[in-house]
Amino acid sequence: MENYIAQCVIRRQKVLDKIGTDGVAVIYAAPERRRSNDTYYPYRQDSNFFYLTGFNEPDAVLVLDGGKRESILFCRDKDPQREIWDGLRCGVANACGQYRMDKSYDIEQFKKRISGCLKGHKRLFFISKQNRKLDKEVLRPWFSLQTKKHKPQEICADLQAILRDMRLIKDAVELDFLRQAAKISAAGHIQAMKSVRPNMWEYQIEGLVLSAFFQYGARNPAYNTIVAGGKNACILHYIDNQDKLKNGDVLMMDAGAEWHNYAGDISRSFPVNGKFTPAQKAVYEVVLATNKAVINAVKAGVAYEKLHKVSEEMLTQGLLDLKLLSGSLNMLLKKQAFRRFYMHGIGHFLGLDVHDVGERKALQTNMCLTVEPGLYIPDEPDIPPEFRGIGIRIEDNVIVGKNACEVYTADAPKEIDEIETLMAA
Ligand code: GLY
Ligand code: MN
Ligand code: MN
Repeated sequence: MENYIAQCVIRRQKVLDKIGTDGVAVIYAAPERRRSNDTYYPYRQDSNFFYLTGFNEPDAVLVLDGGKRESILFCRDKDPQREIWDGLRCGVANACGQYRMDKSYDIEQFKKRISGCLKGHKRLFFISKQNRKLDKEVLRPWFSLQTKKHKPQEICADLQAILRDMRLIKDAVELDFLRQAAKISAAGHIQAMKSVRPNMWEYQIEGLVLSAFFQYGARNPAYNTIVAGGKNACILHYIDNQDKLKNGDVLMMDAGAEWHNYAGDISRSFPVNGKFTPAQKAVYEVVLATNKAVINAVKAGVAYEKLHKVSEEMLTQGLLDLKLLSGSLNMLLKKQAFRRFYMHGIGHFLGLDVHDVGERKALQTNMCLTVEPGLYIPDEPDIPPEFRGIGIRIEDNVIVGKNACEVYTADAPKEIDEIETLMAA
């Protein structure tokens, strides 16, 4: 984390450059979220806040003063009594040294001090509606400090837009974290492939995958794990994971680990009994060829939209070859006939959020994205019986390079013979 915290200093300098000498930026830590009564979800820091601080506690606010070029962290102070119950805190006195801040104050003093922090600035950079209580504590003094009548857009600016552009291009430490998240995620997939047997329950596979994540040091999955047997794979966000895995079905698993808040996001599809049927194999081959063709197209300068177009064309041609569609390729593409079988995009950016921020424009070096074509054949009467309910997604994570991309999820097997050999072992 030390390298990461050093990068946070550089990132804050970049934000200070962007907000200018008359700007001030305020950003909050995520609150703790209650699961029931007095029980809380595992704490997950706000991604933007973590990106600028590396600080992993709730009840904290970062203020960036463009005039003085200072980073000020408000955080919980040490409290030996509370720490007996809830765990250690960094505390105000340690915050400057540990997180390389210029100043730190007790969050209890936030209301009293914020007006002084805002004073003398012309623009407040802010991400609104994340915390109503803190919004009031910041916006009330901010508007009351204004001597002239201003429109809110003249004096409030969107900090999110600045951070979105910065977060889109990953630095070396972020790439390390993403590679580690992917490595652990791949280990989870291998564990599932080795363990699955007909009549196991989907949640048992989920348990084994999460166990592999923990074994390799991840403390959380990056999102709710999808373990979808048979036609459950055709429900795109299936997280129930409560069905029995049937002999002869394909299991589509979408599972990713989180490493220091950076997400892995891998999907693999494999036969519950270890052997694909000819129909499953045929659909799998179309999706795999598409996955590879799109990966081959990823490099700096390519329009993001182009990647999706490649997937639409390849999958439509595949559906024609499988006789699940008929007609001319061009007409089918025009009518978007593939939508019945392929209803999501080719992928998304990946980073602190699994669906990471960023504008989808021309690719640049060190952007990180998923490539995840899929075919989801509905269980409907007009579909030949052998294809009904087959859902295949093959999802890799890639880093954009100048002339190609790095597929850093390659540890998770995706060739048919690799998968069948691993499952037979
Ligand atoms: N796991 C979420 C997604 O693939 O987009
Ligand atoms: Mn994804
Ligand atoms: Mn996924």
